[in-house]
Amino acid sequence: MPARIAGTGRYLPTEVLTNDALAQRVATSDEWIRTRTGIRQRHIAAATEQTSDLAVNAARAAIAAAGMQPADIDLIIVATATPDMIFPATATIVQDKLGIRHGGAAFDISAVCSGFVYALAIAERMVSSGGARNALVIGAETYSRILDWSDRGTCVLFGDGAGAVVLVPAPEPGIVTAHLHADGSHRHILCAPGAIQHGAITGTPFVHMDGAAVFKFAVKVMADVAFEALAAAGLSPTDVDWVIPHQANIRIMDATMKKLHLPEERLVVTVDVHGNTSAASIPLALDTAVRDGRIRRGQHVLLIGVGGGFTWGSVLVRW
Ligand code: ACO
Repeated sequence: MPARIAGTGRYLPTEVLTNDALAQRVATSDEWIRTRTGIRQRHIAAATEQTSDLAVNAARAAIAAAGMQPADIDLIIVATATPDMIFPATATIVQDKLGIRHGGAAFDISAVCSGFVYALAIAERMVSSGGARNALVIGAETYSRILDWSDRGTCVLFGDGAGAVVLVPAPEPGIVTAHLHADGSHRHILCAPGAIQHGAITGTPFVHMDGAAVFKFAVKVMADVAFEALAAAGLSPTDVDWVIPHQANIRIMDATMKKLHLPEERLVVTVDVHGNTSAASIPLALDTAVRDGRIRRGQHVLLIGVGGGFTWGSVLVRW
């Protein structure tokens, strides 16, 4: 039985940090950030909010949009690089906070900014093979906790948020094709290389990035994996109604659209509102375009993830 997305949801924390406000903390400017990245503002989780809280808010919206109750969910996958704690998995905390008691599977996956497409591809395989019925797939992050707020090269780029979808069995495929890749030899260009040993943090627990190397790599693999999905589905770029790439940086997204020879009008952009929210960025953008009526039944939506590892992947959805 194929699987389709039955509902989407998103949540952004209340506190908004604008570029101007950030420019009072580090040597940067609204103009520099906007022209280099397209970001105008980011949301910051309250001290009392954990990644699981953001995830639960997005999940509740997605479950309601699917016309379901939390008890209908028998699989939860949370994609995150900023889990609540070392263990248990944030997905089990989400399961508990949603009040789900019947013991369906719940686990996290770590593929950084590609996390949502990885999680969606895994969930699709579990639903279509009968291993789960109604899957909740969430991307949720609190990157504000792993940023060095004195490093203007990274702290201006990221924000907190969560997005979610509910995946159900369907007679027609909603998830048409999915393609996942990784190349660990590039892990040093984007990482948070801290570790916990004997109760102490070793290495630096903050995001470290070689911006230029990330830019080059991201543009190449995003276009490659988009073409891979289209070839597998027997479609051409012009058959794609909406492209939803990882919302890292408007210039990476524009360069990808150019490689696909697609007009900017087919690109969904939300990075201006929430910055790079890593695994949360694609479902945040997806939910935005679903709820404002841009994405309609029968359309093809191409999700493209890329992130630390390096990891990358695409999921082609027929809505
Ligand atoms: N404000 C003002 N000046 C800054 C800032 C800032 N926030 N950050 C860097 N600069 C300065 C640099 O110090 C440098 O100054 P110098 O010339 O005096 O040395 C100057 O701006 C230019 O720096 P570059 O790094 O060359 O700037 P560039 O135009 O390459 O833009 C950026 C940097 C935006 C990070 C770019 O490399 C980029 O977009 N990379 C992609 C990275 C990305 O999107 N990462 C997100 C995570 S990746 C992912 O999610 C897959």
